[in-house]
Amino acid sequence: MKYVVAAAPGKLILFGEHAVVYGYPCLVSALDQRIQVRVSFLKKDDLVIAAPQLGIKKFKIKINAFGNKSIPKELSFLVAGVKRFYQKYHLQKGLSIATQCQFSFKFGFGSSSAVMIALLLALAKLYQIKLTKKQVFKLAYKAVLEVQKVGSGFDLAAALWGGTLLYQKPAKLVKPIKIKNLPLLVCYSGIKADTPTLIRQVLELKRKKPQKIKAIFKKIRQIVFQAKTYLEKEKWPELGKLMNENQKLLQKLNVSTPLLNKLLNTALKAGAWGAKISGAGGGDNIIILAPQAKRKAVAEALKKAGGKIIKVKLNSQGASCESHF
Ligand code: MEV
Repeated sequence: MKYVVAAAPGKLILFGEHAVVYGYPCLVSALDQRIQVRVSFLKKDDLVIAAPQLGIKKFKIKINAFGNKSIPKELSFLVAGVKRFYQKYHLQKGLSIATQCQFSFKFGFGSSSAVMIALLLALAKLYQIKLTKKQVFKLAYKAVLEVQKVGSGFDLAAALWGGTLLYQKPAKLVKPIKIKNLPLLVCYSGIKADTPTLIRQVLELKRKKPQKIKAIFKKIRQIVFQAKTYLEKEKWPELGKLMNENQKLLQKLNVSTPLLNKLLNTALKAGAWGAKISGAGGGDNIIILAPQAKRKAVAEALKKAGGKIIKVKLNSQGASCESHF
């Protein structure tokens, strides 16, 4: 095989962020926007990476000399993925990697996890190594933790399995939720969130007030299970109410910000059933559920308040190999 192209989707977490880091369940949905990774062998024993959307035209190191040269931060996930794969399967051949992304990396749609999953699928195909999804997940999760140190892996699961999932770390539970429709509005706050810092902030809070935080996580777990039922039954007003409840608990974890609160209130005032942050907080996106008749007004109000409506579809297909030659 001369080259392989694989692709994986971005994600949005619906319910259960932060609690999922501590083993509680969350609901996550894959997006229709994807990252493509193309891998091919090189004659020389180099690793060459082109990631133009990350501002990296060409980066080169000796393959298997990982760690000898400082890696640009933007490429740390890709290099960690190659390193894990090469070390696990004792590989040597030179490799060229090129990435292409349908969404902006700043949106918090899980570009690092999508790139990791697409890379590992492409490498497995290139080397003709048969891996189960669980094996891909395990490799990917280790590589992500090597770079990021913290995280539940829910984003990797969404990139790999796709659809909408009930997830518990580390892929202990990956249950596809059968839904036909998920009419959420997605609004970008304009601020890029620093997920590891926010995770550490919540950890600190948990150290200081373990009982209080445990009680919050337990309530979030109840919300996640209830939300699963409402999603399946398309009980939108009830689901919206749960979003508001989950948001209140996230506010108690101190991860919301005045700007996010302003956007959330704007959506509710314009007639949304419910709204919450999606992700670590601090910035990134909010998700909104509104009656069909109010969606336009809600979107307009959010735009006026400084938000950016992003057109994405949820519940989309998971990672796949797209072509090879
Ligand atoms: C971030 O999008 C969601 C968190 O729960 C982190 C994680 O689960 O890895 C805050």
